Amino acid sequence: MSKVSLRFHDVVDSTMEIASDLALRGVNEGTVIVAKTQRRGRGRSGSAWISPEGGAWFSLILKPPIQPKESHKIVLLAGLCVCNVLRDLLELNTMLRWPNDILLERRKLAGVLGEGLQTKDAFYAIVGVGVNTNFSIDAFPEWLKEGAITAMDFLKREIDNESLIETIAQRIVEKSSSLGENYPQILEEWTRFSDTIGRIIEIDGTRTGRAIRLDSEGFLVITNSKGNEQRIVSGKIRYLDEV
Ligand code: BTN
Repeated sequence: MSKVSLRFHDVVDSTMEIASDLALRGVNEGTVIVAKTQRRGRGRSGSAWISPEGGAWFSLILKPPIQPKESHKIVLLAGLCVCNVLRDLLELNTMLRWPNDILLERRKLAGVLGEGLQTKDAFYAIVGVGVNTNFSIDAFPEWLKEGAITAMDFLKREIDNESLIETIAQRIVEKSSSLGENYPQILEEWTRFSDTIGRIIEIDGTRTGRAIRLDSEGFLVITNSKGNEQRIVSGKIRYLDEV
């Protein structure tokens, strides 16, 4: 039986806002807000998320068994689910760039966003997922094109957005229901598909080092030039050893 229910919209500001409003009204876990396009799509750290028609843009409402302070776990879990479903359904060799990017051929194919929402009755997590599916990269502005890729350009065909969204949402609902106990296993699997571990990176244009592993929370551990370990809890990373 399907644990998710999809609600379709044409044009919205952001599916995140609609999902948050619904969560505040106590909607069921597994409700998914899907939009054809977003006027004000949101990416990480307040960046804009360009959402041309044809992409898979959606927000999923969860009631995960975690504390609000553990919200970062949802982002790694969701990224892993997106990466795995793209591998399973479309046979794409997707990889993960910490913390929330899904890459194909070292370019960004998808991203996830996690927001916690505490109501008086429950803790909700809203997981936003954007997958560049059925459009050409030419729909993106110049500054985005170089680091991004679309499934349609790569596969030379359109894919079924609805079944992709349903499968991803279902996978996230299933895996998040035991997020407390299965987190070590999620981190292990995340590491297996990581494009980041082992790379020389720069964080937010300031700190640099080699990414060596995830810690037990899912934060990134780097060693700097002096060999000291540092824990990175957030930030935008750039590879310095790109070939
Ligand atoms: C990122 O990689 O920066 C996260 C991108 C998340 C984008 C999705 S698209 C659907 C949902 N609605 C939004 O406004 N953002 C997320």
